[in-house]
Amino acid sequence: MTKPDLLMTGPMMQMIQDQLEQRFVVHRLWLADDKEAFLRKLAPSVVAIASGSHVPCDPALMGRFPGVKIVSSFGVGYDHIDATWAGQNGIVVTNTPDVLNEEVADTALGLLLCTVRELPQTDRYLRAGKWLEKPYPLSGTLRDRKVGILGLGRIGKAIARRLDAFNVPVVYHGRSEQKDVPYRYYASLVDMAKDVNVLLIVAPGGASTNKIVNREVLEALGPDGILINVGRGSVVDEAALVQALKAKTIRTAGLDVFEDEPRVPSELIAMDHVVLFPHVGSASVHTRNAMAQLVVDNLVSWADGKGPLTPVEETPWPPKH
Ligand code: NAP
Ligand code: 8YV
Repeated sequence: MTKPDLLMTGPMMQMIQDQLEQRFVVHRLWLADDKEAFLRKLAPSVVAIASGSHVPCDPALMGRFPGVKIVSSFGVGYDHIDATWAGQNGIVVTNTPDVLNEEVADTALGLLLCTVRELPQTDRYLRAGKWLEKPYPLSGTLRDRKVGILGLGRIGKAIARRLDAFNVPVVYHGRSEQKDVPYRYYASLVDMAKDVNVLLIVAPGGASTNKIVNREVLEALGPDGILINVGRGSVVDEAALVQALKAKTIRTAGLDVFEDEPRVPSELIAMDHVVLFPHVGSASVHTRNAMAQLVVDNLVSWADGKGPLTPVEETPWPPKH
């Protein structure tokens, strides 16, 4: 049986590449010297795309392949893919939901604790030999804090469950109220920011959330406020955040995601009181393996004629006509 042609847009985990090789002829775009000639040659035959490393998967790319029917993406967020266009053009997009919820929620709580209790700073203090001189100064606490979650979805709920166990009150903002959750809903992000002293972002990127955490929201959060972002860097106006941190209109921030990764503003790097993670929310061997398997399983299930396993909401399966 001839194997169908699959385009891989960026480097992906070896286990993905090895398993896909068994079912597809895998063409690696990032290794091509002449990308234009490579894409032109493959245009008539590619039926599937494996999307990795956040390489944009836009109409300009997908539109080159008249036979493409599926884009399987690594990660639950798919703001690098124009899924609406894909749906309109008969292409199903899949992502990797749920298998990473608990890992990202663990990371979010770790980042929150690091930020509030200044834990990375205490480590640096000890290594610098300063403990020999005097104890580390007393830190802030979670004990008097209320967390406003922007994006109470699959991961947001796993974070909220952890905060319940920590006895930290939770409220949330999203586009719509959820009737089946025990947390107070705010229709206005600014109103929620005024009422909490931790704003925790776990909303997707894309046009509808672009820079919605802006100067006004940060001012509403106030001088004792802490911003935690494990969603997408694009949700925050990063220049306004740097300004707010410099002017101390908010207290501090813990960030796992940035506007232009892996580039992080030098102003943030220079601030000792902020905590910065290099986008490691889901980055354990266990969870990345589960995500990788789901990328493969979606493609194999589709190739077997059984349909994709986890299509995104813009491209339901079976397609609605
Ligand atoms: P999800 O279940 O789809 O939840 C997303 C939540 O965001 C929903 O509650 C949704 O509520 C809200 N939302 C969507 N658009 C919004 C808007 N315009 N304004 C306000 N709220 C909005 O997604 P998930 O699986 O929890 O993942 C969430 C995101 O986390 C991903 O898209 C990804 O960007 C990020 N993530 C980061 C890492 C990391 O390593 N740091 C790892 C995994 C995921 P409404 O529909 O009611 O608005
Ligand atoms: C991934 C993420 O690490 O799932 C997501 O949306 O942001 C992370 O889990 C990332 O997509 C892969 O680079």
